Amino acid sequence: MSTIANTIFSPELAARFDHLVTIYPLRRSALVPMLLYAQDEIGYISDAVVSEIAKRIEIYELDVRNVLSYYSMLRTVPAGKYNVQVCTNISCMLRGGYELLDHCKHKLGIGHKEVTADGMFSLEEVECIGACCWAPAIQINYDFHDELTPDKADVLFEMYRAGQGKDVK
Ligand code: FES
Repeated sequence: MSTIANTIFSPELAARFDHLVTIYPLRRSALVPMLLYAQDEIGYISDAVVSEIAKRIEIYELDVRNVLSYYSMLRTVPAGKYNVQVCTNISCMLRGGYELLDHCKHKLGIGHKEVTADGMFSLEEVECIGACCWAPAIQINYDFHDELTPDKADVLFEMYRAGQGKDVK
């Protein structure tokens, strides 16, 4: 059972959080991992998530929001079912990352941090995702796709539209 009454998280995640705050010398060191796990479960960092995590770590909500505003991988609004993250860092930039990003914007009809009207895709320009050797690369939810071209990206979008991608963001 969770140490927080009326937790907004699943029993499994609440139990994980109960444990997480005990394994660091300072409770607040658990903040970023908790935000990421919460985002995976809830879909984004809502006000309710901020409030419960602040209680669990015993810090102010403002402290949570300060960290939240620093990390671009944390979202305060829901993403699409498939969150498309296009890397434009140095390796990807040299191998067509910006052309790929422009193509994705055009193909999906949305810009950075926007969501398609049907909620299927969202798009983000991101920093290095650790796939530099295979640039240009994108990440969709937790799936990597590398050595991409605009044509290959189109095939991917069709695949995801057909329900063949991971749902977990
Ligand atoms: S620069 Fe794009 S994955 Fe590293």
